[in-house]
Amino acid sequence: MTILAVFNQKGGVGKTTTTANLAAAMAKEGMEPLIIDLDPQAHLTAISGVEPDAGDSIFAFYKDNKPLTELVVHLDNGVNLIPSHVELAKIDTLYAKTGSIIRRLRQALQDEHLSNAGVPILIDCCPFLGILSINAMAAADAILIPIAAEYLAMKGANQLANTLVAMEQIAGKRIPRRYLVTRYVTQRRLSGDIIEQMNERYGKDLCKTRISENAAITESAGFHQDIFAFAPKSKGAKDYAVLLEELIACGFVD
Ligand SMILES: Nc1ncnc2c1ncn2[C@@H]1O[C@H](COP(=O)(O)OP(=O)(O)OP(=O)(O)O)[C@@H](O)[C@H]1O
Ligand SMILES: [Mg+2]
Repeated sequence: MTILAVFNQKGGVGKTTTTANLAAAMAKEGMEPLIIDLDPQAHLTAISGVEPDAGDSIFAFYKDNKPLTELVVHLDNGVNLIPSHVELAKIDTLYAKTGSIIRRLRQALQDEHLSNAGVPILIDCCPFLGILSINAMAAADAILIPIAAEYLAMKGANQLANTLVAMEQIAGKRIPRRYLVTRYVTQRRLSGDIIEQMNERYGKDLCKTRISENAAITESAGFHQDIFAFAPKSKGAKDYAVLLEELIACGFVD
């Protein structure tokens, strides 16, 4: 089963929203996805309505070698979550970028038979580079890169490309990727221009599915619900269901 890192060093592009709602779409299809909050901001944990102590979060895995399986929280919607905690911000200063820490997450997922448990794993990355993002990259079979449909997205494209190259060098592998347009507004002229530019730049790596700007998506997070539970008929719910179909069809999710 695929391990998918949801990554973009740019903040606020929809990484956490995509992790939560793509996983919810998977659960609706009978999969039992595992999502890992690898961001010290712990937004994925918060929108899931979970408030762990640091010792019950992924921080304890890095700091005290606590098994990942002991950290899993079962959410009502059928998704399993390994939560984060603000303490996770200390990881970069606790560890140098040594070879052993880089593959730590991948190794544990293998050793604890999570990566071969027949369930998809999604990793919500933080919007900065460091040990955590590199851990996600080293563990991932593929990367999903949300890009908000706005002017600044294309301005940051070169920086993103350089980052991915650098991360792949450290992780020691070329990782397949798909770019996902988020916060898309059909009526906005700029959105069309941006799609054109993205098509030119990313070609077949650009998802055909676009996630629309949809107020229900933001609201659902405040109610600790996924978009399917909160507004099953919304555009947001439809978009994430279609995204899952596309990722299955292209082999990103199996
Ligand atoms: N399709 C959408 N429609 C409306 N609002 C959205 C959509 N996607 C994301 N948002 C909102 O945009 C904000 C940022 O989204 P999100 O937290 O998923 O981004 P992120 O990339 O994870 O941010 P960070 O880099 O800080 O981790 C949130 O308030 C979220 O509810
Ligand atoms: Mg986030």
